[in-house]
Amino acid sequence: MMKKIACTVLLLTLAFTWFGASAQQKGDATKPKKISPDLFGIFFEDLSYAADGGLYAELIQNRSFEYNPADNRDWNSMTAWKYQTDGFGYGTISVETAAPVHPNNPHYILLDIQDEGQKGVGLENSGFDGIPVKAGKNYNFSVFLNAISDQSLPVKVALVDRKGKELGSSSFTTSDKGWKKYAEQIHVNFDNDSAKLVLLIKAKGKIGIDMVSLFPEETFKNHKNGLRADLAQVIADIKPKFMRFPGGCLTHGDGIANIYRWKNTIGPVEQRVEQRNIWNYHQTVGLGYFEYFQFCEDIGAKPVPVLAAGVSCQNSGGTWRIGSTGQKGIPMEEMKAYVQDVLDLVEYANGPVTSTWGAKRAAAGHPAPFNLEYLGIGNEDKITGVFEERFRMIYDAVHKAHPEIKIIGTVGPSPSGEDFEKGWKLADQLSVGIVDEHYYEKPQWFLKNTQRYDAYNRLRSKVYIGEYASWGNTLFNALSEAVYMTSLERNGDVVRMASYAPLIARIGHTSWNPNLIYFNGNKVFPTVNYYIQQQFAANSGNEYLPGVIKLKGEKAVIDTTAGVSTVRDSATGDLILKIANAGNTPVSGEADLSKIGQLPKSATLTVITGNPEVKNSADNSQAIVPQSSVIKLQKKWAFTVPAYSLTVVRISGREIEKHK
Ligand code: AHR
Repeated sequence: MMKKIACTVLLLTLAFTWFGASAQQKGDATKPKKISPDLFGIFFEDLSYAADGGLYAELIQNRSFEYNPADNRDWNSMTAWKYQTDGFGYGTISVETAAPVHPNNPHYILLDIQDEGQKGVGLENSGFDGIPVKAGKNYNFSVFLNAISDQSLPVKVALVDRKGKELGSSSFTTSDKGWKKYAEQIHVNFDNDSAKLVLLIKAKGKIGIDMVSLFPEETFKNHKNGLRADLAQVIADIKPKFMRFPGGCLTHGDGIANIYRWKNTIGPVEQRVEQRNIWNYHQTVGLGYFEYFQFCEDIGAKPVPVLAAGVSCQNSGGTWRIGSTGQKGIPMEEMKAYVQDVLDLVEYANGPVTSTWGAKRAAAGHPAPFNLEYLGIGNEDKITGVFEERFRMIYDAVHKAHPEIKIIGTVGPSPSGEDFEKGWKLADQLSVGIVDEHYYEKPQWFLKNTQRYDAYNRLRSKVYIGEYASWGNTLFNALSEAVYMTSLERNGDVVRMASYAPLIARIGHTSWNPNLIYFNGNKVFPTVNYYIQQQFAANSGNEYLPGVIKLKGEKAVIDTTAGVSTVRDSATGDLILKIANAGNTPVSGEADLSKIGQLPKSATLTVITGNPEVKNSADNSQAIVPQSSVIKLQKKWAFTVPAYSLTVVRISGREIEKHK
């Protein structure tokens, strides 16, 4: 996607003069400073079908027949399913709970086939807006069947198009009585965006059916129970330093019973405890804590799990719009067990295989620790007495048992206000290492607040901006975020981490807009905001070099539509310059590279620019993407960057070394 462009976008000319002190640089020390090595990461929440029907590669919707009206008032065990009698067979179908595969997974289908007709009798699943399949690819099918009749039953599983044309199929015969898992591979011969899966029993008899599953053979890194490869790759391409999961509001849940319990999400998928998603759909938790940790490892991102602080979301019970509090605390007599769950998570992630929870991680196929370093407690909770009491209990226990874990506290849903103040007060009292600030604001807010962290007291808690976004996906929105992000680099000694939110959303099922990445069944659409995040995450450093870039004239003094930063990555020695311009005129300035030693002759220049009103959406073939080229380097050079642009110059540390 990165095309070469002419170097004229950035006009580099020799110049030997310094320009006046920049407003953007106000508050800078003159010396280089260490900044967070984990500054830019991602926030994943199972929101807008981000997990089921999204990153989780399962293609069957409602595979375990656990959908119910609590998820969505129109849903039940047969949602996304159809009783299939096209071959004129007949019998009865019922949803049962008497003898399930596992008590955590209570519903299953019972078929009592009296006449199998010409084709057999069974079930058809329509997937998530249809099942996308590709010619020449293999799909891994599995099902739990309980053959109750004495005789073996022939079974056919097929992928068909909307008119019933077969795209690929496989057949097998049941063996033994009782629940048993059957696995087949289906080779597909035709492309289809909205296929259906048909499971037919081709004989008279009684049979239980549960956990009907279909995965592409190729998942991200080819893990079993894996993730959708194209979507996972686009996320990986951000090169995030960390990943927060599983939310957001999903974490603290809609009422106490809906709090996300990590222990319910590990182990064999048919034994996990599914539950209602706070965003009005269903969580199979097939993408559970093991898979989250594994994904973090696969993409080189530090895991940042966030657990509820023993309270439910203050907007529980649908009170979101009228703003009254639905926050409820886990009863105190249950808090000891809840605190133990939190401690057990640390053991699950980091404990030896000989420990109780480390052994479970090893049993899932990962004996090595996941190197958990950060742990979030609470998500933008209302800071009440109920919250405070429970937060303190959890905080004290984790801090005592695991001083090595960096705990992230919470300071409400807004960049200021009552919960923000109270949250910070509590953080001060407890000396919480890091607090989680959230803000969704207009682009102008981001441009006006670039000095927010210049004034932060360096002796208080560090900051994790766990959720932020400007309200929109235009280039202008993205550039307002870019300007702000230069200020985060400048304040990378106090801002430890930052993640845009939310990360991904399925088109047609969005509960929240804007998002960083949109997708449908077979395509992924990164927004312009995505490319901005990618430029910052992939071009981050652990040392901030003040004063290297100076903006010229008025821009330097009054303009808040431009931001600059220079960082060095000590691992590679690379030096990275960023100039973000959300204004409607070009910006000029000078970069002085004379102090970094002998310069290589060239560097990589990447520019994102275009019409500020444009969004990269599914129907927009003219997507704004980064354009890269190689430029000649000067020790002191003047530049002019275009209106509405982000410019990133990366100078290779290896090349700097060579020229010493
Ligand atoms: O990112 C969407 C939602 O915004 C999160 O779930 C919540 O934490 C915030 O209010």
